[in-house]
Amino acid sequence: MGPVLGIESSCDETGVAVYQADKGLLAHRLYSQIKLHALYGGVVPELASRDHVRKLLPLLRQTLEEGGLKVSDLSAVAYTAGPGLIGALLVGASVARSLAWALEVPAIAIHHMEGHLLAPMLEEPAPGTEPLAPPFVALLVSGGHSLLVGVDKIGSYTILGDTLDDAAGEAFDKTAKLMGLPYPGGPALAKIAETGDPKAFKFSRPMTDRPGLDFSFSGLKTQVLLAWRNSNQTDFTKANIARGFEEAIVETLAIKCRRALAQTGYKRLVVSGGVGANKRLRAQLAEAGQREGFQTYFPRLAFCTDNGAMIALAGSIRLAAGQTTGPEILVQPRWDLQTLPEVA
Ligand code: KG4
Ligand code: ZN
Repeated sequence: MGPVLGIESSCDETGVAVYQADKGLLAHRLYSQIKLHALYGGVVPELASRDHVRKLLPLLRQTLEEGGLKVSDLSAVAYTAGPGLIGALLVGASVARSLAWALEVPAIAIHHMEGHLLAPMLEEPAPGTEPLAPPFVALLVSGGHSLLVGVDKIGSYTILGDTLDDAAGEAFDKTAKLMGLPYPGGPALAKIAETGDPKAFKFSRPMTDRPGLDFSFSGLKTQVLLAWRNSNQTDFTKANIARGFEEAIVETLAIKCRRALAQTGYKRLVVSGGVGANKRLRAQLAEAGQREGFQTYFPRLAFCTDNGAMIALAGSIRLAAGQTTGPEILVQPRWDLQTLPEVA
């Protein structure tokens, strides 16, 4: 099986990559629209779509060049078909479907969260670690999702826990914003939290006092708002609040991951999605894994946030299973992960 092109354009990152089953990742490029949206404090969907139109083809050319490839070398074109912003998705889908049509190769519509979930497979396993294979539990934490997924086979996904309100990344972003930090708030908040005192502010660990695997983060944001309003609002206090908030989110996520592992009996945990780039979350879960006998798998930092590599990889796996998409330009802004076909 030859190289598979992957295109990601579901939100504010244009990602293009080429993956080949027997050779691994051949090339990848990413263009982030952060600067474009920062001015507005969040993603403006129409601007996102237009920027994908501007950037996708040049990025595609650069990626092929980086891999020493011609378009005619491609065996298939995979693209993010959802969930995401409809206009942004349509840009990637139209380019991918047209290119596949012109090359007379299959197109493969990929679920964005499946991309995140499989992303650790882009990495060499750590020394002494088995390569990632199902069954495993995946914690997928991004700007739009906070999911605990039971992966019994590739393509066979059970949602074990979901957020009742804000996603973890959204909670980071909103909390950062209310303390005046720039968009996207997650990385900015995590950065100032590094100098904060973890004991200065103690916020609650929502929904950990009752059984179940669902999350709720919007109350935490309100707790931070009150703490911030009632404080002296210095940089020192901001760092302390940021640290207290980060501790609360990380510990809540870690508690639920351990519960999900206990519930399923699985011994492997994948952590992925933008918040999976959070260093404290990675460290706390890796430590818990060593202590409690489960193996943790993380993509490299650049592949936690949106990227084309995870889409090319998922496409390559689906292609090998003969699962390709028809001639239509298919996008699904809302798409239940549990409805995907199983990979035999
Ligand atoms: O997966 P992603 O790139 O896009 C979505 O599919 O949503 O995730 C972006 C989210 C944003 O909310 C961002 O603030 C958060 O991930 N994020 C972080 C960190 N890096 C990115 N949150 C906490 N700590 C980080 N280091
Ligand atoms: Zn994402």
